[in-house]
Amino acid sequence: MFTNAIVRKPCKNMVNGITSAKLGQPDYQNALKQHANYVEALKKCGIKVTVLDADENYPDSVFVEDTALITPKCAIITNPGTESRNGEKGAIEIALKNFFPDLQYIVSPGFVDGGDVMMAGDHFYIGLSKRTNKEGANQLITILKRHGLTGSTVALKSVLHLKTGINFIEKDNMLAFGEFLTKQEFGKFNIHEVPREESYAANSLWINGKVLVPKGFPKTLNIIKREGYEAIVVDVSEFRKLDGGLSCLSLRF
Ligand code: GLY
Repeated sequence: MFTNAIVRKPCKNMVNGITSAKLGQPDYQNALKQHANYVEALKKCGIKVTVLDADENYPDSVFVEDTALITPKCAIITNPGTESRNGEKGAIEIALKNFFPDLQYIVSPGFVDGGDVMMAGDHFYIGLSKRTNKEGANQLITILKRHGLTGSTVALKSVLHLKTGINFIEKDNMLAFGEFLTKQEFGKFNIHEVPREESYAANSLWINGKVLVPKGFPKTLNIIKREGYEAIVVDVSEFRKLDGGLSCLSLRF
């Protein structure tokens, strides 16, 4: 169960964020509204939300998930693997120190983006991507082991981050599409196939028994309801334009 989340307000400069989505530039005013609604959705799940100020130096800084990994046993500042985003971790480190005095760190030449790390109970799957390298994954696995947790790597082919393609929604259920439907490392889970045209919704987010689902993906919404979850639909279309999903917008602990 989560009790807290950290989010960061989008900055005006988000229009210059990294993207491969080809959905046009985000509308800043609408992004602010959508972000406020996202915070309300987190609160509906019983979470206290810390909202950090926007930082115009970092266009992608709303996507706080990439800067840290928080587990029930330890908190780790990652080392985001793209130069324009690496400095985002500074503000997150300051915010997290209030909750976790004994922070751990991934250091160069190791790189990890939090979006590549998926928690499934005591085990952490780490996607090897353009942002997360083997050295970063090894450092992370060593830290996890010290805290009685385990980690393993997953090769990625076509997605930005591991959690772009697969997400654990508890009760042994994974939402997945494409290359993640047949990966043997996820064979022990119930894999629920997200149709390709709804692939963005594979990044739906379990929080305290409810699942946040992006607006506009009715087939995925039906899967989640069918599996007995209470779904909360959240419109994050402005963040989708920057390749960001629901999980990217918060750190939960
Ligand atoms: N725009 C989010 C990212 O590329 O990390």
